[in-house]
Amino acid sequence: MTCPTQSAKLSGRDATPATKMSFKHCHRLQTDRGSGLSPWPAVPSTSREGSTMHAALIAATAALGGLLFGYDTGVISGALLFLRDAFALSPLMQGVVTSIALLGAAVGAGFAGALSDRYGRRPLILVTALIFVAGSLLSAAATGLWMLLAGRLLVGLGIGVSSMLAPLYLAETAPAESRGAMVSLNQLMITSGILVSYLIGYAFSASGGWRWMLGLGALPGVILAGGMLALPESPRWLAGHGHLADARRALQALRGSSETARQIEAELDGIEADLAGEKRGGGRVSLSDPGLRLPLIVGVGLAICQQVTGINTVIYFAPTIFQAAGLSSASASILATAGVGAVNVALTLVAIRLIDRVGRRVLLLVGLAGMAVSLVVLGTGFLLGAGGALGWLTAASLTAYVGFFAVGLGPVFWLLISEIFPTEARGRCMSIATVANWGFNLIVALTFLDLVAAFGRPATFFLYAALTALGFLFTLRLVPETKGRGLEDMREAWAERGHTVPQSRG
Ligand code: BGC
Repeated sequence: MTCPTQSAKLSGRDATPATKMSFKHCHRLQTDRGSGLSPWPAVPSTSREGSTMHAALIAATAALGGLLFGYDTGVISGALLFLRDAFALSPLMQGVVTSIALLGAAVGAGFAGALSDRYGRRPLILVTALIFVAGSLLSAAATGLWMLLAGRLLVGLGIGVSSMLAPLYLAETAPAESRGAMVSLNQLMITSGILVSYLIGYAFSASGGWRWMLGLGALPGVILAGGMLALPESPRWLAGHGHLADARRALQALRGSSETARQIEAELDGIEADLAGEKRGGGRVSLSDPGLRLPLIVGVGLAICQQVTGINTVIYFAPTIFQAAGLSSASASILATAGVGAVNVALTLVAIRLIDRVGRRVLLLVGLAGMAVSLVVLGTGFLLGAGGALGWLTAASLTAYVGFFAVGLGPVFWLLISEIFPTEARGRCMSIATVANWGFNLIVALTFLDLVAAFGRPATFFLYAALTALGFLFTLRLVPETKGRGLEDMREAWAERGHTVPQSRG
C-alpha cells in the first residue's frame, strides 16, 4: 500500500479531509510495528497507576539532574578549605580547582545539543549520569592534584550536559499547560543541591572529610542512571527521527490515564505538522537561518544576563561577603549563608506555583527589578560601612537579591531556552545559550575578587545593578511570552513580537 505523502497531507491545497484520513490511517498502519527502539512497555491510557508512576519518575529524574548540577557547583567552596591543605594549593591553583568544573561545563554543554539531536535525549542523559559517578569517585579518591583536576573536569562535563538536557527533556515531555512548573522543577533541584552542598560541607567540616563531600555526588548519579532506564525517549525527538509508533507509545507512557487516545493523537499530529513545516521550510534548520537570529539573541542574551548580574558571586562567595559586611563570627556567616540557600529554594517554589499562571515575562520583569533595587541597597550598605545594624541590612539585601533571582531569572532562563527554539534546532540552539551561560559564569567567578580589589565592593555591586537594569530593558523589549502554548506553537509567541521563526515558513 502506498500512503499519500506528508506534504499532500499538510498542504492546504491538496489535502481533502479524505486524503488526511487516509494518510493518517495508512501512516499509522505502516509505523505501528515501531522501530524496535522503544525499551519501555506501552502504558494503556486507562492506567492511572501508570500515569502517576511516570509523572513521579519524570519529576525524580529532573530532581536528580538538577540536584547534581547544584550539589557539584556548590560543594567546592566548602571542600576547598581542606583541599588547600591536602594538596598544598597556591591561590592560583585554588582558582583552577574551582573553575575547572565550570570550564568542563561549558565544553559539555557545547557538545550536548548536537549529540542529543543526533542520538536522542535519553541515552545522553544516561551517559551523563555515569560521567557524574566516575568524576565524583575519581575526585573523592584523588591521591594527587592531577587526579583531582581530572575528576572535577569530568564532573564539570556532566554538569554542562545535564544543565541543558534536563530542561530540554522536561520541556519536550511535559504537557503545555504545566510545562513551566515541570521544567522549573529542575531549578528547584539546582537550588536544593546547592543547599544540600552547604549542609554537607558544614557537616563534614569538623572532620575535614573532603573526600566524602566530593564523593557523595556519585549517589544521585547512580539513581539518575537507574531512573533514566525506566523513562521513555522524548516523543518529539522520536517523531523527528521518523519513529512515529515509538513517539505515540512514549506519549502514552508519559500521559498515562490523564489523556485520551484522541488527545494523544492530536498532540502527535501537532508535532508531525511542526516537523513537516520545518522540513518544507528547507530541510534541516541551519543555525545561520535569519529566523533563528532573534531567538538566539534572546537565549544568549538571557544566559549572559543570568550570570553578569552576579548571582554566583553570592552562591560561591556568600560567607566572604557576609564577613566583609561585619558578620564576623563564623557561625553568624554560616547561618546567613544557609539562610540564603533556603530562601533560594523557597522562592523557587513560589516561582513554580506562579509560572504557568502569571507567565514568564511578568516573573522575569518583577525579579529583575527586585534584584536591581536589592543590589543598589547592598552597594549602599557597603558604601556606608560594615558592622552592626548595617551588617544586617547588607545581609537582608543580599537575601532579597537571591529571592528575586529565584522568582525570576533563575527558573525562567532555563525554561525559556527550552521553549523558544524550533524543534529541529532546539538542541543546538540550547547548547549555544548554555555555553554562553557557563562561559560568563566562569568570567564572573574569575573576575569578582579582582573587581572588588580594584574598585571596591560598592562599585562592584553597583555595576551588577546597572547590568541588571539593562537585563530588564532587554526583557521588556525582546522576550516573548510562552505560557500555555504548545512547543509547536511558539511561532505565534514570536509573531506577537513581530518576528518570524523558521517553522512558520511554507
Ligand atoms: C544558575 C546557576 C546558579 C543557580 C543559583 C541557576 O539557574 O544557572 O548559575 O548557581 O541558578 O540558584
